[in-house]
This record gives sequence, C-alpha cells and structure tokens, in this order.
Amino acid sequence: MSSLGVVRRGHAALVTIERPDRRNALDSATVGELGRVGRELVADPELRAVVLTGAGERAFCAGADLKEREGMTDEAVRAMLDAYRSELAWLGNAPFPVVAALNGAALGGGLELALTCDLRVAAPHAVLGLPETSLGVIPGAGGTQRLPRLVGYARALELILLGTRLDADRALSLGLVNRVSPAGTHVVEDALAWLAPVLDGSPIAMRAALTAVRAATRLSLDAGLDAERQAYEACLASEDRREALRAFAEKRKPAFRGR
Ligand code: COA
Repeated sequence: MSSLGVVRRGHAALVTIERPDRRNALDSATVGELGRVGRELVADPELRAVVLTGAGERAFCAGADLKEREGMTDEAVRAMLDAYRSELAWLGNAPFPVVAALNGAALGGGLELALTCDLRVAAPHAVLGLPETSLGVIPGAGGTQRLPRLVGYARALELILLGTRLDADRALSLGLVNRVSPAGTHVVEDALAWLAPVLDGSPIAMRAALTAVRAATRLSLDAGLDAERQAYEACLASEDRREALRAFAEKRKPAFRGR
C-alpha cells in the first residue's frame, strides 16, 4: 500500500505523506515512493507547481522512522542515506517550484525534506528543528549543507548543535520558512493561493528563474551571471514573452501558454 497520496489541483499537484500514526516519518518504502512519484511529476509538462505536505495536523514529517531505524544494520542505514540523496533531489531540481506546506512538526529528516524543497509555508502551530545530535548522529539528508545556505553559518550551527526547536514565527524571522499561514486557513490551501502568480504565470519564465536562482546557491558570481544569461535565452525565444508585450500594449492580462 502506498504511503503517498497524489492529487491534481489544476496545474498543481498535491503530494501528501500518509503515515499519520507515525507522524509521517520516513521509512525506506516512503523514501523510494517519493522518488518514484517525483520521476512521474517532473515528466509532466502540464505541471506548474508541487505542494508537499503530511497527513493530519500534528506533523509534516517526524524525520527518520526511528522504529524502522532501530532494526537496521549499518549497511542499511548507509543505503538509506544514499536514497535520501537520490530519491529526494527532484524536490529542489524540478522544472517547477516545489513548496513544503508544514502542517505540523518538521523535525530531523522532516525538516531536511522541507529544506530540499524550493520554498516553505508553515501552519502557525508548526515546530521545526534538527534534533539529530541529541540522538547521537548528525542530519544526514542534506541539513548540514542546506541550512547554512538558507539561514547563515552561525544560526545553522546553533540550530544543529543545540537541537533547538523553533516555532513558526521564529522560523519566519530566520528566513527558514517563507510564510506563516493566517490562523483559520489551512496551510495547503494557503500555499496554493499564495502560488497563484506561479500557477497563472509563464511556465517558461518560472523555469528560467528557478534555474538561475538555484545556480546562485552553488556557483561563483561570475559563473552564476553566465547561468542567468543562459536561462534568459529560453524566455527570449518564447511566445509567452511576445504575448506579455502584446498584452501590455492592449492593456489586458497575458494568457501564457508555456511556449
Ligand atoms: N519515527 C517513528 N515513529 C514516530 C516518530 C518517528 N520519527 N515520531 C513519532 N512517532 C510515533 C510515536 O512513536 C507514536 O507512536 P505510538 O503511538 O506507537 O507510541 C506516534 O508516532 C505518535 O507520537 P507522539 O509523540 O505521541 O505524537 P505527538 O503528536 O504528540 O508529537 C512529534 C509529534 C513529531 C512532535 C513527536 O512525535 C516527536 O518529537 N517525534 C520524534 C521526532 C524526532 O526526533 N525525529 C527524529 C529526528 S532524527
């Protein structure tokens, strides 16, 4: 039985980890399933965004499935660490933005899962943290590398060494999440509404922006400027760009077709 739910909402797909009795913790089957679903989604030319969330209101994802982990050999844990990298990478490399909608706790591998996504929206009651050092290990799904890139070296080191649990407002103030949903709004609906400019915009421009901005996290400034220049080319050749110029002249909203 699949531990993931996938539902289409117009040009968006909603992916839900459905293991609420384990607070949506990641066992090896779920990690493999995330990879399989990801390969299907990135190949879908109609998709303009993905929202990743967890079932229930308690947890987005409680990290590694500690009950499964207890019975694992060292070799099996190593294979799991490799799987985090190979099966989850699409969350930050897809041709559309992937948004983590944190419907509750995002701890350990759960926060790392959210960090692999492009953007994060948190419910007001969400709790975030990397408690791995308190369990005798370190974050092993990219947290030691992605967190410093997002919040800076000293903050990241503090969060990892102290295992601090942050509430949603504090996470927002550190830039760890982009947005906290207003009370009374479900975080998934809020994330989808927030994404309207992406869902209604030019997919070509969105893809080019993603490519260029993602490059900024890995490249030197000069190499990044080359990447920006290259990404611009795709827009220059597009019908969407000409449609936007026509719509401006005709004082109407552009109808983007992704060509
Ligand atoms: N792996 C496996 N099972 C987990 C789990 C995990 N990471 N986190 C929670 N569960 C299970 C609990 O063992 C419990 O199962 P039980 O009913 O058989 O005892 C069930 O989920 C509910 O957990 P509970 O702690 O009662 O839920 P809560 O809603 O009060 O709290 C959390 C949710 C996520 C805040 C809390 O479960 C927690 O802190 N989990 C551990 C997070 C963690 O340290 N992750 C590992 C990082 S490396």
